[in-house]
Amino acid sequence: MPSFPKPKIPDAVVPPPLRKPAKPGSGGTPKGQAPSDLKEQPERKTAGDKLLDVGKEAPIDALGWVDQRLAASGFLTGMLFRKVPKGTNWFYTLGSATLFAFIVQAVTGVFLAMFYTPSATQAYSSIAHINNEVPLGQFVHGMHKWGSSVMVILIFLHMGRTFFFGAYKYPRELNWVIGVVLLILTMTMAFTGYLLPFDQRSFWASIVGININGTGPVVGPYLSDFLRAGPELGATTLSRFYAIHMLLVPGAIIALIGAHMYLVVKLGTTAPPWVKAEKPKVAAPVAQLDAGANGNGRVNGNRVDGAPVDGEGNGAL
Ligand code: HEM
Repeated sequence: MPSFPKPKIPDAVVPPPLRKPAKPGSGGTPKGQAPSDLKEQPERKTAGDKLLDVGKEAPIDALGWVDQRLAASGFLTGMLFRKVPKGTNWFYTLGSATLFAFIVQAVTGVFLAMFYTPSATQAYSSIAHINNEVPLGQFVHGMHKWGSSVMVILIFLHMGRTFFFGAYKYPRELNWVIGVVLLILTMTMAFTGYLLPFDQRSFWASIVGININGTGPVVGPYLSDFLRAGPELGATTLSRFYAIHMLLVPGAIIALIGAHMYLVVKLGTTAPPWVKAEKPKVAAPVAQLDAGANGNGRVNGNRVDGAPVDGEGNGAL
């Protein structure tokens, strides 16, 4: 193939570290003269420029400082850049959507708690105050109220996805059980929150709810007595519901979401049921040799014939 002469790249456009040093005796910088790069004095930085440089580096420096002490970057990289099975689709976002709904509930709940009074005589008027006088109060209250229904709908959809994709099977049974507890706690949040405005609707709806709990086998009557916190629904019921709604259940939900997420990251997500496991990519003769040599019929833990190994999840990575 004919070779074309390479065009000469002008020295001016090549950055100094990439420039070839001149061969001895072939020109270059005349003896006793500084190379042209050195002759050009770099612009002196003013104190302001230096301060600006330090400011630009500050966030990275601060993150580096924290990371040196926590060693969290390895964990975060593993968590954020993990592989997902083929066929992962929009249904897999329902868990994250539920998590987002929970965060919205937590944030709006904190702002509502700043103005709400959990007393039988003042609860109703404090809600009226939030809705009518507090800036953006009605908006935040509305977000919290509608957000609770959104979270309940999302958690059921997410549960349906994990059920129909078989994600409750080995090795994810424990995550399913944690999920069931999360579902019960989410329903408890919705139920206890409903009484807090202490208006006619919430009062009578809570009586119905407590009575339904009372019909449960064995524990039912004890549960309804505990929830009512007295012979009739009243001030003590409101205080109890408020403590459950504000402290007990959110704390348990946060801890369980932590465990749920840990298991999701550790075990990976399940592939959709219609995606078949790929055969291991191993050259046949080597596979046969290995299978013969150790006699267990496996290469790198996979069966040579490509059939799934007993007891292994279909999508485990
Ligand atoms: C506060 C409630 C919940 C939150 C925030 C939550 C969050 C998540 C997230 C983000 C994932 C990973 C992505 C995905 O598959 O969607 C996940 C996976 C999973 N969740 Fe939940 N979840 C909740 C409730 C539940 C419930 C009620 C169940 C079932 C009873 C459940 C069972 C599972 C299972 C089995 C997986 C693994 C899915 C797989 O391997 O493909 N979760 N969850």
